[in-house]
Amino acid sequence: ESIKAGVLGATGAVGQRFIQALENHPWFEVTSLAASERSAGKTYGKAANWRLESNIPDNVRDMEVVPVDPKKVDADVVFSALPSDYAKTVEAEFAKEGFAVASNASAFRTAEDVPLVVPEVNADHLGLIDVQQDNRGWDGYIVTNPNCSTIIMVPTLKPLMQFGLEAVQVATMQAVSGAGYNGVSSMAILDNIVPYIGGEEEKMETEPLKLLGEFDGSEITFADIDISASCNRVPVMDGHTESIWAKMADKPSPEQVKEAFLNFKPDLGDLPTEPEEVIIVREEADRPQPRLDRNMGNGMSVSVGRIREGIRYTAMGHNTIRGAAGASVLNAELLHKMGKL
Ligand code: A2P
Repeated sequence: ESIKAGVLGATGAVGQRFIQALENHPWFEVTSLAASERSAGKTYGKAANWRLESNIPDNVRDMEVVPVDPKKVDADVVFSALPSDYAKTVEAEFAKEGFAVASNASAFRTAEDVPLVVPEVNADHLGLIDVQQDNRGWDGYIVTNPNCSTIIMVPTLKPLMQFGLEAVQVATMQAVSGAGYNGVSSMAILDNIVPYIGGEEEKMETEPLKLLGEFDGSEITFADIDISASCNRVPVMDGHTESIWAKMADKPSPEQVKEAFLNFKPDLGDLPTEPEEVIIVREEADRPQPRLDRNMGNGMSVSVGRIREGIRYTAMGHNTIRGAAGASVLNAELLHKMGKL
């Protein structure tokens, strides 16, 4: 049997990655594409300003785009790539109407009764769905994934928790695709760096505390880690790179940290979008690099390198796949596996 999937914000940068991630998916079949009034009524092929390296999949090219309205969308699960301000009202409407909402938007990430999940890190937090449905009286529910920069960092922090992780400093070098298509089409920052990405540092400093927190069946106690982030937009198309400094009570050696990364093999039970290796450790002094490493594990692996005393290391991952659409799809796959979808 296949599960009917809708994409909200299907025409945008992350929406297109959702379409790509769902093409030939063994469980999910795309049945609805929703976007703004500008796009509604057009075929997807005409409405979407398609920019990805692959062609528009046949299964969606001639599909008519509908408005973002629960009555117009036919699906069991909707993947949301909507702007956050708009997602706040709309995702709640969909959940109320019985849809499972797997959202990449930030609107509900910090809500106490909404799971913020990276399956390899805190799958057990999905138990919050029951709390959410009790609280709000919704037939459906909302599950969120973190900000792209957070997603690329957190799988590397999880195995460091065993050493008593106390503080993290991170400087990001983020691709323009994360800024939506205005950023990509202009590549206006060639020969330049923009040392500010609105809201990004706050997200990187708070979301990991929820993700790495403990869920006791009713609420999440946030992790006690002091995180400090500086975020920069650099002229790279896809792939966020992060220089990370991690302070741990046990003061592990670089060799011990490398072992911890290599041994981090969470078992999600072979989900279709799950990468073979969550963390790939590179030995070369000049890796990871976006162009060489962003598509590892179909864009779902995080590559790390330059592990050295301090502890200091570099992490890199695909921001719109691992960091966005792939993350939401993986959450939905896990929900299906758990019988919640
Ligand atoms: P549209 O393409 O019709 O404007 P991006 O982040 O790349 O700009 O994508 C945002 C996505 O969310 C697009 O699919 C866009 O549709 C959709 N969207 C933006 N604002 C609204 C809105 N107010 N109502 C419905 N869809 C919206």
